[in-house]
Amino acid sequence: MNSIDELQAALQAHNYIANRSLATAVYLALKLERPLFLEGEPGVGKTEIAKVLAAALGADLIRLQCYEGLDVSQAVYEWNYTRQLLHIRLLEAQGAKAGKAELFGEEFLLARPLLQAIDPQRSQPPVLLIDEIDRSDAEFEAFLLEILSDYQITIPEIGPIRARHKPIVILTSNRTREIHDALKRRCLYAWIEYPDFQKEYQIVRAKLPHAPGQLARQVTRFIQELRQA
Ligand SMILES: Nc1ncnc2c1ncn2[C@@H]1O[C@H](COP(=O)(O)OP(=O)(O)O)[C@@H](O)[C@H]1O
Ligand SMILES: [Mg+2]
Repeated sequence: MNSIDELQAALQAHNYIANRSLATAVYLALKLERPLFLEGEPGVGKTEIAKVLAAALGADLIRLQCYEGLDVSQAVYEWNYTRQLLHIRLLEAQGAKAGKAELFGEEFLLARPLLQAIDPQRSQPPVLLIDEIDRSDAEFEAFLLEILSDYQITIPEIGPIRARHKPIVILTSNRTREIHDALKRRCLYAWIEYPDFQKEYQIVRAKLPHAPGQLARQVTRFIQELRQA
């Protein structure tokens, strides 16, 4: 992407309508290689823009859906106990014993979204969507801050794993609570407003290209009025 216009057009080609200010924020996040933090009411297109951006860039989309109690084993990695057990049994059957080092090797590792995103074997940066961060708890936020500062994760049994290409990170929040300043400072920030008539009309036309223009206008006007009521 070589300009804001080009980015805006690429999003539009995937049926995503971004106004100039949102397209600018995304463009800067790409150029400066900084995470983008998007806030706004539910339904304004925060999740969708990450999906569309990945499609437009031809990049993988990795999504971490946040929830209360989200922890490292779901966000980063866990050991595949079933496979480890099988391996031990198999060796036992052969009269051998499994060493600790071989049981905690990469073939027994289950990579969750954050680890997948920094996998050094990737040839191209993925889009990492950290969705609805306001649902997770403060400890997880602190942990995330650490990862977003050096894109490195240390697994005690294996050592540090570091991204070769910084992932393109989009964090979203529906603002059910305030996100810590330290995390916000690490990111570029954009607030997505409810669409005005023009933008919403464009969205309706993009989604329903065969609907008559008159009908699309009426529906859009109705929704705009409903939102004000
Ligand atoms: N600017 C937009 N352009 C195209 N579709 C949009 C836009 N904003 C929202 N949508 C559509 O509205 C729906 C809700 O968007 P979503 O990204 O899930 O909202 P959020 O994550 O902000 O709650 C999706 O089906 C999405 O395609
Ligand atoms: Mg969403």
